[in-house]
Amino acid sequence: MDQDADHRSYLLGDTESAVYRYRLFNRVHEPATRDRMATLNIAPDAHVLEVGCGIGETACLFATELVPAGHVVAFDRAPELVETARQTALERGIDNITFVCSDAAEFDFGSERFDLAHTRFVLSYLNGAAEIVGKIFGAMKKGGLFFGEEIVQSYVLVGETAAYEPFCKWFGQLIEAGGGQADYGLRQLPADVLASGFTDMRATAQWPLEDQSLIVEMVGLALASEMKHNLTRLGIASEAEIDAAVAALNATHRNFTVSPAMVAQIIGRKP
Ligand SMILES: C[S@@+](CC[C@H](N)C(=O)[O-])C[C@H]1O[C@@H](n2cnc3c(N)ncnc32)[C@H](O)[C@@H]1O
Repeated sequence: MDQDADHRSYLLGDTESAVYRYRLFNRVHEPATRDRMATLNIAPDAHVLEVGCGIGETACLFATELVPAGHVVAFDRAPELVETARQTALERGIDNITFVCSDAAEFDFGSERFDLAHTRFVLSYLNGAAEIVGKIFGAMKKGGLFFGEEIVQSYVLVGETAAYEPFCKWFGQLIEAGGGQADYGLRQLPADVLASGFTDMRATAQWPLEDQSLIVEMVGLALASEMKHNLTRLGIASEAEIDAAVAALNATHRNFTVSPAMVAQIIGRKP
């Protein structure tokens, strides 16, 4: 299998289970996205760019609630996810989104087209995120906003969370093996935003907490499917170690609090 296909399989795995997991992911992270979105003062007829849209939930949110008289362009490199996003929009009767299947490195960002650009858990995975932030800057109209939600720390653990530790360590190692940065939202994104030319930067950190059984399900699904493949392929963990970690997670008493990430929300304005 070529390397790119292998990397994609980490993100996708079996499509159906990956789509289900992405829906859980959106359920965890949407409240913070929605809260911040409400503070942006974007005109209802504005044009929005969604980078790495996944199954399209954020694109649908913006298209219906932020810019109902405007338009959203949403792209992702994974064809199955883009197709799921298209179907979701169609089923919901949303007709102001254009979905594009493209890698960020090849996407035609154009120039001065958008009033808002959003990323959520995308730049953290990229090798060359600074360049993409620069392209986003070029694609913004004057006065346009960048709104990035990227990882500060994957998994915040409180209490008896030893069963989570292998997963957290492996998650970070996989991001880094793919050329990303597991703490990009804090370590590099603010600097990349400023270096691109955005000004008036605002930064906050979110620590989303959800129903703990949902988190256990999300972690278990990720570990047992797409992560397992790449952890073994890269020699980070053996199948036996991963199976033991999944069993420990399932057996764990729920004497803990786990948040699936600490998330930086970074806003910048194109002068
Ligand atoms: C963790 S998911 C987040 C999806 C979505 N932004 C959300 O918040 O629900 C990361 C997404 O980034 C996409 N992605 C990763 N690398 C990419 C690249 N180089 N170009 C375009 N999309 C990419 C993946 O296919 C995946 O859909």
